[in-house]
Amino acid sequence: MRTTRSGKALPFRDTTAVYGRVSRLLHWTIAALLLWQLLGMGLKLMLGRTPVSAFFVGSHQQVGTVLFGLIVLRVIWALANSGNRPAHGGGLRGLAVRLGHLALYAVMVLVPFSALLRAYGSDKPFAPFGVEIFAAQQPAIGWMVQAGNLIHGEGGWLLLALIAGHVAMVAVHEGLWRDGTLSRMAGRQGARL
Ligand code: HEM
Ligand code: HEM
Repeated sequence: MRTTRSGKALPFRDTTAVYGRVSRLLHWTIAALLLWQLLGMGLKLMLGRTPVSAFFVGSHQQVGTVLFGLIVLRVIWALANSGNRPAHGGGLRGLAVRLGHLALYAVMVLVPFSALLRAYGSDKPFAPFGVEIFAAQQPAIGWMVQAGNLIHGEGGWLLLALIAGHVAMVAVHEGLWRDGTLSRMAGRQGARL
């Protein structure tokens, strides 16, 4: 039976019924920042260099660097809570969910990592916040720059495709199966479980 709103506070850590406060904060903050990054680059591709696209793209390196830190924290938090998170069931469907989430994690890490690797190997200094994080390499480290060029852009669009699939599956859960999946990650409905 579905629970009603209980008013009980959500736990910090995850439980087998719901994602806790920390997982939710990380999930939604990272989702918003990723969409900011992808929207900005999408606008740049579609409109070229306009004030609107420059508004988003101007913060791309800073937001991307912060995102990488948040994503690393999220991976650590997921490992710390593994075995104590909502289950996805057995069989092929459960396996598909686990593989889908694993793919999201892998590409989410790889996209900013490849850009930072390229920045590290570049012959220009990397100082997204005005403070030098990586000094210029003399000469540039070729394989790092090439790996970044190869992976970063394409990886970014692959991430967008995975996110679209993820959101579509949530819509199917909510609209068709009505199994309360969204309430594990949003709202207070699952708190008393
Ligand atoms: C998870 C965070 C990030 C996402 C989702 C993301 C996504 C993207 C996308 C979709 C593109 C456009 C590729 C194209 O034109 O087809 C791009 C380009 C770019 N990004 Fe990021 N990015 C992220 C983090 C970063 C970071 C941390 C840096 C800096 C170290 C960075 C630097 C760049 C640069 C310089 C470009 C233009 C050159 C290129 O296409 O590779 N990005 N990014
Ligand atoms: C935009 C980037 C997004 C990424 C990268 C992402 C990634 C993930 C990942 C990896 C999980 C597994 C749990 C975890 O480890 O935190 C998850 C769970 C979840 N996400 Fe997202 N998500 C995104 C956006 C969204 C959006 C927009 C929605 C709402 C429509 C959503 C709804 C959910 C729900 C309901 C769960 C729990 C699913 C379950 O327990 O089976 N996500 N998300």
